[in-house]
Amino acid sequence: MKFDTPAGTNPIDQLKVIGKPTPRIDGPLKTTGSAPYAYEHHDAPDPAYGFILGSAIAKGRLTGMDLRDASAAPGVLAIVTAENAGKLGKGNFNTAKLLGGPEIEHYHQAVAIVVAETFEQARAAAALIRVDYARDKGRYDLAAAKDGAGKPPEGGFNGPADSGHGDFAGAFAAAPVQLDATYTTPDHAHAMMEPHATIAAWDGDRLDLWTANQMIAWSVGDMAKTLGIPREKVRMRSPFIGGGFGGKLFIRADAVLAALGARAANRAVKVALPRPFMFNNTPHRPATIQRIRLGATRDGKLVAIGHESWSGDLPGGGPETATGQTKLLYAGANRMTAMRLAVLDLPEGNAMRAPGEAPGMMALEIAIDEMAEKLGLDPVAFRVLNDTQVDPENPGRPYSQRQLNQCLQTGAEKFGWARRAKPGSVRDGRWLVGMGVAAAFRNNINMKSAARVRLDARGIVTVETDMTDIGTGTYTILAQTAAEMMGLPLDKVVVRLGDSSFPVSAGSGGQWGANSATAGVYAACVKLREAVAQKLGFNSADAVFAGGKVKSGKRSVPLAEAAKGGELVAEDAMEYGDLARKYQQSTFGAHFVEVGVDAATAEIRIRRMLAVCAAGRILNPVSARSQVIGAMTMGAGAALMEELAVDKRFGFFVNHDLAGYEVPVHADIPHQDVIFLAEADPTTSPMKAKGVGELGICGVGAAVANAIHNATGMRVRDYPITLDKLL
Ligand code: MOS
Repeated sequence: MKFDTPAGTNPIDQLKVIGKPTPRIDGPLKTTGSAPYAYEHHDAPDPAYGFILGSAIAKGRLTGMDLRDASAAPGVLAIVTAENAGKLGKGNFNTAKLLGGPEIEHYHQAVAIVVAETFEQARAAAALIRVDYARDKGRYDLAAAKDGAGKPPEGGFNGPADSGHGDFAGAFAAAPVQLDATYTTPDHAHAMMEPHATIAAWDGDRLDLWTANQMIAWSVGDMAKTLGIPREKVRMRSPFIGGGFGGKLFIRADAVLAALGARAANRAVKVALPRPFMFNNTPHRPATIQRIRLGATRDGKLVAIGHESWSGDLPGGGPETATGQTKLLYAGANRMTAMRLAVLDLPEGNAMRAPGEAPGMMALEIAIDEMAEKLGLDPVAFRVLNDTQVDPENPGRPYSQRQLNQCLQTGAEKFGWARRAKPGSVRDGRWLVGMGVAAAFRNNINMKSAARVRLDARGIVTVETDMTDIGTGTYTILAQTAAEMMGLPLDKVVVRLGDSSFPVSAGSGGQWGANSATAGVYAACVKLREAVAQKLGFNSADAVFAGGKVKSGKRSVPLAEAAKGGELVAEDAMEYGDLARKYQQSTFGAHFVEVGVDAATAEIRIRRMLAVCAAGRILNPVSARSQVIGAMTMGAGAALMEELAVDKRFGFFVNHDLAGYEVPVHADIPHQDVIFLAEADPTTSPMKAKGVGELGICGVGAAVANAIHNATGMRVRDYPITLDKLL
């Protein structure tokens, strides 16, 4: 089915199930510990255990590997290195090889897997491998590499390196009020709860993988390319995932080395990456240096907006696209953005929750606050004044919907923004108290997504798609979609996900999952409704599906009747025409934060947080709210504590565990509210929904930073804002 014209009403718009606050249907499986995560599948017979050895240098070569002691160690079944692995290809999505050697591209790049009868035996034997290295000088310092940075490759999700409109340089120079400031964001780790983990088992030339992966079809393709086997020979299952945040968009060393280890040992092999290995072995969100220049008239109209961003990655890698939102967020006739990419030999950078906008908004939305202050304007009013309803670089192209001002104004009202006072002027005991605001912005992307639906004689509809649920609530919203379409209660729908033998979905990435995957189920259900109508002798145009029955005029037949002679099966995909080119589709929000800063110690505590979001139809207010409060929590982490500390001599992230890489805990996040504005965007899909899981993190960091400024009068432009930066 092709979606290319804004639809009128359709069965989804009944909103009997869709849009209702619905607890997740997979909740009981999770709370009883019976949802099978990757490492816990019992289908693989008699598995052995794999332990991966990582490189102890960041750049250089292996000059020798002595495997003798390890091979002779108790329980060892096989050791695979680049020397005996056979020829390996490279997938589309990884920058560095997943099994390194002899060239080493980054610290903790995998160089061997030891397979043994037990995990402890595999780990002990891996420690007996003797590796000799020749270390090369690497490049590990973004600030030092910045001046040599070049234009990054364009295309894909990168967008153009440079963009512009009007005469930025001239308009900035002539602007009566100017801001020119540089902001830095550090490297971030996804730090999801479940580590990367895989069980691999071969049956002849067929490979079965139980893994934790957000994008099944991409990853099956990359696995096949890496191993040099046809993709039809690879089956990947990932029905439950303990968080991904982008770190599981692609296959990683656990999957490739489990497959190689299983082939060498002729056994099923289980591999989980130990936590201290994940931070340097798997990708991270790259650090940025961002220079923002704003020019405004004295009455507060932006006339020049410039944003340059520098980030680094391994040779062949890509940029952190931190300028993306600056092309779109505020009006202003003269604009420029530029992204530059430095070659660094740190572990590879890649997508982490709202790649681009998350760090980009951390910088831009402090700059907007700083400009409002220079102008003597309220930061909410300044943003409202500079709203645009068209893409400012392509003024002929309207937003499909844009309620940024409504988000800001609603939030200001609910948060008590009117009580905000001058910087450094509010005291509550030992606390200096301040409020901050930031806009939230993240693009909306639609992806083709397919599903299969089956109706059986019990009247149960089963949905099958390779879509994943990374903790987001996918099971529930797909069930809601099928229930709405087929006129069934939720408990008559079964959802099966994350299996490459099912139709190819959009996958979980770029906050496109919810809208795209439900639209795929919608398309399959449209077909199933036609099949049912035909079977029962109804005209599909006037048949009503409700209450477990199909009705037209006086006639009413139980839905299950249609499957009495055998299951009815329908499959279809939702595909998109050029609507996303005609309309700029984005999601908007406003974040409000109140902080307290200890007047003596500079300890920073968040006291209250509010997010107001305008993100199309909210399919399930419960799971959508969970997405936003989780994202706000992650944004608070980025503002106040999260930072991978780079060892600039040896090229690795020093704090590679959850003791040193701090993320927020409950005590860091006292109170959160989320408000969704009523919205339904007819240009996005028949679901009229958009993404929300990444919107929720965008702008949070700046709202915290701006609140700290309001509390103390001090402006910190270097994240995370730790107390030493206020002393
Ligand atoms: Mo997302 S960072 O595309 O999982």
